[in-house]
Amino acid sequence: MIISRLGLNIGIGIAVMAGLGGFARAQAPAQATTRPEINAPLPTVPDEIIAFRQANFKWMGETFADMKKAIESGADVTPFAPKAADIAVWAHRIPTVFPVGTETGHNTKAEPAIWSNHAVFEERAAAMELQAVKLASVAASGDKAAFADQYKVTGAACGACHRQFRAR
Ligand code: HEC
Repeated sequence: MIISRLGLNIGIGIAVMAGLGGFARAQAPAQATTRPEINAPLPTVPDEIIAFRQANFKWMGETFADMKKAIESGADVTPFAPKAADIAVWAHRIPTVFPVGTETGHNTKAEPAIWSNHAVFEERAAAMELQAVKLASVAASGDKAAFADQYKVTGAACGACHRQFRAR
């Protein structure tokens, strides 16, 4: 699919607190999260690499929470087409943002299995990319029910990686 390469606009994802940390986080100062530069060159300092990937994952989590909110409220899902496409772009990049030397530091939640079992880690990222590409095309179609279904499938692909490769 070419959809992830369409030169998509930079969406402003409003930080949605629901489901991400509940009341305590909702009390934090309001912070609108701008999409990080998913295509920016990887920093060279390990701590900065970790911070870079965490910022992108955080944006993805918040975008996902925005989608959930839209599904629950029955809102138009078409604005999520470019965001889901950006998520697919990021998914494609995941295997490259855990270079050797970034196993520890900056409060990383990366599990050692990322490095010892990298082939499976890559498979998990590719599986999620595929679902995100589908999510983008379903969003573009405007079919809310289909979007809700595909959202669940994509979320399961996030979880499949987290269970194995992200510390709690
Ligand atoms: C291929 C594996 C993989 C996939 C797929 C994946 N993640 Fe993650 N995710 C990770 C790892 C590893 C970390 C920990 C990164 C770190 O701390 O260095 C992480 C961290 C996160 C974080 C915490 C970011 C922070 O530090 O604040 C969020 C939120 C998140 N992921 C959301 C998602 C969502 C939503 C999806 C699916 C759309 C997803 N992830 C798919 C591996 C994955």
